[in-house]
Amino acid sequence: MSAMDFQGKLNEIYPMPHILVKVFRAVSDPDSNYDQLEAIVKHDPAFTLKILSLANSAYYGRSNITSIREAIGLLGTNTLKNLCINVCAHDLFSFGKIKYNFSGYELWKHSVGVGICARVIGDYLGCGKQVDFFTMGILHDIGLTLEYQLQQEVFMTFLNCLHDRSKDLVALEEDVLGTNHATLSKMLCEQWLIPEEVGAAVGWHHAPLEAPEQVRFYACLLAVADRLVMERGFGFVPPYLAEVPDQVLQILQLDAAHLRQVNLLFTTELAHPGIPLMEKSN
Ligand SMILES: [Fe+2]
Ligand SMILES: [Fe+2]
Repeated sequence: MSAMDFQGKLNEIYPMPHILVKVFRAVSDPDSNYDQLEAIVKHDPAFTLKILSLANSAYYGRSNITSIREAIGLLGTNTLKNLCINVCAHDLFSFGKIKYNFSGYELWKHSVGVGICARVIGDYLGCGKQVDFFTMGILHDIGLTLEYQLQQEVFMTFLNCLHDRSKDLVALEEDVLGTNHATLSKMLCEQWLIPEEVGAAVGWHHAPLEAPEQVRFYACLLAVADRLVMERGFGFVPPYLAEVPDQVLQILQLDAAHLRQVNLLFTTELAHPGIPLMEKSN
């Protein structure tokens, strides 16, 4: 099965969620107002609840938001859009334990960790506001959930092969599945109309030095965040980790001392009670 086959199935099985379509349309319409946005989101009570819990998490900087209207007013329409993306992504992680420590919960935890860590690094480097690093982290490995949900049997073979130390994770995926999760994550980003630089960085997170120049910095940042989260054992960790090339750190102008500082800041963030984790199913 190739990436193109996955693309065909993806469009069929995971079209852009209705709520995202409506929110994106309203946000880009200069005549729309907060009342209309509130009406769209409020239409779905479960969704409203998820939005509020995410809006109150540490990653959007507030802890006392009680209504969607307040969330939009305080956080702005772009943040509402990102909140919706994160909530829709969350639904794709709702599957139980498959094998080893791979489960929707562990992968979501990893993705949240990478989102937080990428934001910490972005703030540390003074570029935290340029793109939504949290959303980038949430989406970077979402291709793994697509692989599992679209090709369960083949995905099991892939998980069984993961202990083969002669190949890295992406090479194994290419062999067994004919594509890799970074490519699929990028496809989903395109399908959900996620900002281009986010999708591009996501697509190159396992080969950041090969990324086009305009997104190479973000792809490198994401790769470092990914590595720091896995080293910490926060959420899903494959049996062995590929090295992050020195050049990646050089592009970000980070040395070992900087990484220690980043890790300390990351620890502080992780200690915050508002981490948007999901219920553990098993
Ligand atoms: Fe990945
Ligand atoms: Fe990852």
